[in-house]
Amino acid sequence: MNKTEISKKGIFEACVLSNQKIRQCYYRLDLQLDAKGSDLFSSVIPGQFLELDLSGVSLPDASDIPDHLKDSSQRPVLLRRPFSFSDVIVTQDSKGISVKVQILYCVLGPASVRMTALKSKDKVSILGPLGNGFTIPDGLSHAILIAGGMGFPPVLHLAAYLKKYHPKCDVISFVGAKSSEDLSFTTLIDNPKGFVLEEFERIQVPSHIATDDGSAGYQGFVTDCARGWLEKRKINPTSTIVFACGPEPMLAATALLAENYELPCQVSMERMMACGIGLCQSCVVEIKTASADTKYHLCCKDGPVFNAKNVVWQAD
Ligand SMILES: Cc1cc2nc3c(=O)[nH]c(=O)nc-3n(C[C@H](O)[C@H](O)[C@H](O)COP(=O)(O)OP(=O)(O)OC[C@H]3O[C@@H](n4cnc5c(N)ncnc54)[C@H](O)[C@@H]3O)c2cc1C
Ligand code: FES
Repeated sequence: MNKTEISKKGIFEACVLSNQKIRQCYYRLDLQLDAKGSDLFSSVIPGQFLELDLSGVSLPDASDIPDHLKDSSQRPVLLRRPFSFSDVIVTQDSKGISVKVQILYCVLGPASVRMTALKSKDKVSILGPLGNGFTIPDGLSHAILIAGGMGFPPVLHLAAYLKKYHPKCDVISFVGAKSSEDLSFTTLIDNPKGFVLEEFERIQVPSHIATDDGSAGYQGFVTDCARGWLEKRKINPTSTIVFACGPEPMLAATALLAENYELPCQVSMERMMACGIGLCQSCVVEIKTASADTKYHLCCKDGPVFNAKNVVWQAD
């Protein structure tokens, strides 16, 4: 069993290695952590996250701000913003441990607009590692990964982590979006078997794409695409887990799909977060209890990964 709760966290300085535009509104930020940060972040688990302080970062040139964000991007950025990891690279030499983290981000508002202005060698303050990541039991033989929209980064991290630390586990991924244009961070490869995603090809994880409009891959919801795949297979529920991250309706549909196949399912939830460390109570997730009552857990501290069976979904 991996260690899912890392209680130690701190504020560290990270140095920007690169900040590249992948496509319209989507960027990849690579950060090098300082020595103290490297020590703590070396044991990060997929699903955990950090908070970036962007309050001191200036806006980019007006020409680099999307038109629809020209007004809202002027708002001051008082609070740190949460971001998952799409990759964490740990190296060790005689000088100690060194950690690089990769963040895939979408430009949505004042903080993420400012992130686009970060350039190589800039320093940025990070708080982390935060939250509880995905739990991967020893002996897991099949992992079914389902991602939608901004849920892609931690799922990609999980895929690479499973390939590295659980090489006997068969990993398969399903990624959904409204259309091929909205497949946020992915590069489509059109091969004889159909579209696959470059990020998953690189780590030898098969990928299935679903788009609402059918512009790439399966036409329909990603959960229906995964259901079609499951229908054709005999899956052993005792050694298979469904892992998912994405918009809440997609997570609710994934939870139902897993329940139908009696598969355990872990979902990484998103909430608006202020403090990220369990102080402000702004990020509650309603959780079932053994009785008819429910209780509220904190997404930042008790999650963001929850057992899908325990979550009270909006439509419940
Ligand atoms: C645990 C966690 C991990 C995340 N990982 C990533 C990641 O890897 N890549 C990435 O691009 N983004 C990620 N996000 C979302 C990211 O934190 C927000 O996009 C960011 O805070 C937006 O800040 P902003 O000032 O640019 O926009 P804001 O003005 O703060 O928000 C712009 C719009 O996005 C909505 N929004 C912002 N944050 C959230 C949220 N948490 N849940 C639902 N809606 C939200 C707002 O309602 C608003 O409509 C993550 C969020 C959480 C909670
Ligand atoms: S973000 Fe403050 S309690 Fe979760």
